[in-house]
Amino acid sequence: MADDIMSFIPCQEGEGPQAFYDKFGWQKNENGDYCETVAFSDRRPLAAGLTSHCMLRLKDKYFSKGGKFLLDAGCGPIAHPELLSYGDAFETRVCLDVSSVALQHARAACGGRGVYLHASIADIPLASSSMDAVMCYHVIYQLPLQLQVKALCELWRVLKPGGVGVFVYMWPRPAIPGILGRMARVLGLRNEGRNGASVEVPSSDHDRLQPREWLEAQRLPFDFDYDVYRVVDNNFLRDYVSADRAGRSLVGFLRLMQDFAPRLCGRHGSMPAIVVRKS
Ligand SMILES: C[S@@+](CC[C@H](N)C(=O)[O-])C[C@H]1O[C@@H](n2cnc3c(N)ncnc32)[C@H](O)[C@@H]1O
Repeated sequence: MADDIMSFIPCQEGEGPQAFYDKFGWQKNENGDYCETVAFSDRRPLAAGLTSHCMLRLKDKYFSKGGKFLLDAGCGPIAHPELLSYGDAFETRVCLDVSSVALQHARAACGGRGVYLHASIADIPLASSSMDAVMCYHVIYQLPLQLQVKALCELWRVLKPGGVGVFVYMWPRPAIPGILGRMARVLGLRNEGRNGASVEVPSSDHDRLQPREWLEAQRLPFDFDYDVYRVVDNNFLRDYVSADRAGRSLVGFLRLMQDFAPRLCGRHGSMPAIVVRKS
């Protein structure tokens, strides 16, 4: 591995997120797109616009104060310019991932403003209370259940007093998308292109998603609050957001819901943002 990527774990053969992302997810296809993004994200303009809004909303709310170090835990390749911009107000972005391929891309994106750690969020090779802010988006639910709490504790441990952490998770059976889906069907909203395909997360992740009641029952060394990353998942967007006025109205409604009731959307929507602050 390149000598500015410090490795704390062996390269893994076989299955698991590390091998999945190294061999498939963060490889690029013939169009130069990441295979993971093509496989799992709804990249149509309306859906991508909503996702972009969601990323920037959390950035503006929690990461604009800046500081010395931003830990991007499970950074992936930093494929979206919106996510790259989270580092703008920080001197150094500490990029950490189990995928060495992700870190090579992250380094190409951040260059000299980054530090690159090949390590797991369940065992973070950083001093306690050293990071001004911590982001961890779409990573925790990829860990085996017994390591998810350990990872949350590690993310908390490295956060500086006065710092903020935002951890994006995914609930297995959220209420709001179910209700919205029923309303959309009654109103006749439908995206014809979906054809019933279901490609939200790799199947192994489904077993690892835990409900809100599970999180709230854990003995964690910190209190947390809920915000929302995105109230619905990619399958909902593919099912109901069509590329016409009806689709635009639905996306507008989702944005309004999130902007005006972020806590409710985080508790009962698809993709909560778990927000921690160290005093
Ligand atoms: C769905 S991607 C998310 C990437 C990025 N955070 C984003 O939101 O675009 C999940 C990333 O988490 C990484 N990952 C999975 N398990 C991890 C672990 N235990 N420690 C650190 N990174 C991990 C994967 O290698 C992958 O790059």
